[in-house]
Amino acid sequence: MKVGILTGGGDCPGLNAVIRSVVRKGIEQYAFEFVGLRDGWRGALQNRVVPLDVSSVRGILPRGGTILGSSRTNPFQHEDGVRRVQDTLAAHDVDALVVIGGEDTLNAAAGLSGLGIDLVGVPKTIDNDVWGTDYTFGFDTAVGIATEAVDRLHTTAESHMRTLVMEVMGRHSGWLALYSGVAGGANVILVPERPFDIDEVCGWVNSRFRINYAPVVVVAEGAVPKDGKMILKDDSVDEFGHVRLSGVGEWLAREISRRTGTDARTTVLGHVQRGGTPSAFDRWLATRFGLHAVDAVKDGDFGVMVSLDGTRIVRVPLADVTGRIKTVDPSLYDEFGVFFG
Ligand code: F6P
Repeated sequence: MKVGILTGGGDCPGLNAVIRSVVRKGIEQYAFEFVGLRDGWRGALQNRVVPLDVSSVRGILPRGGTILGSSRTNPFQHEDGVRRVQDTLAAHDVDALVVIGGEDTLNAAAGLSGLGIDLVGVPKTIDNDVWGTDYTFGFDTAVGIATEAVDRLHTTAESHMRTLVMEVMGRHSGWLALYSGVAGGANVILVPERPFDIDEVCGWVNSRFRINYAPVVVVAEGAVPKDGKMILKDDSVDEFGHVRLSGVGEWLAREISRRTGTDARTTVLGHVQRGGTPSAFDRWLATRFGLHAVDAVKDGDFGVMVSLDGTRIVRVPLADVTGRIKTVDPSLYDEFGVFFG
């Protein structure tokens, strides 16, 4: 059996750990052969395929990013896209694919699976928003990076008695903002799932100043003001139709400053959250996902995604998990209200 591997969408720490475990188990236990498709679905469209063996995955477990490259290419947005993917697989005698990606990449995988391409999905993303899995790998590392940033912002905010706003990624889900905000002891946490009232935010800021502490605000890039619309600095869209988020952090600091008459600044964490070496948990989860994905290939159980259910890795039909995202339950968010202000 010859298996192709691809990594699609925004990169995240742990992608290489999946590639390594799929290849190691596939070769050592099942005598599979492997190739990598370069840059996600783009490599499948452009016939860019590289051999993968045990020596090519040696030493990559702690390395961030992806040795295969990634892109936000959507095969369904390209002329003859499906046929070109099929041609590439046929040209290299690839029998099945392991597709490592987030919502968009897995959505395309579900579509291709429905058209007869044998594949197994593996959920990744720092956003933790893939439906049908308790966690995606990449998230834990990003939470660690963002939490450390909140810790650092507290000390400088207090030295200058100013508000520091930190904008984190997460697209339309607030997992990263909530986890890092809670772990870092932020005084305000704003998530897309709960539109915020700017007057209430300013009230929390003022009450923090009154007890002689400087406020730290963690805002998800997808957070929206009540009665307002999403604040964006750029309205270009990718091949999956997604706008590039970011801008709410700048807006918030300006509004806090204007309304409270105090100094407020913004830190946009950006791609720092996606880079660097994966946490131990992400290496563990990514490794287990890889081992179970290659088992699914061996079993001929295609059109599924491996997922974390409690502590168990299970398989769920791709068709059931794509087309929707996993967001923060507002009641979970409300648990932390006592820390605001
Ligand atoms: O989906 C992962 C993610 O990091 C989002 O949190 C963010 O909105 C987006 O990717 C940024 O993508 P890009 O690097 O393509 O601008």
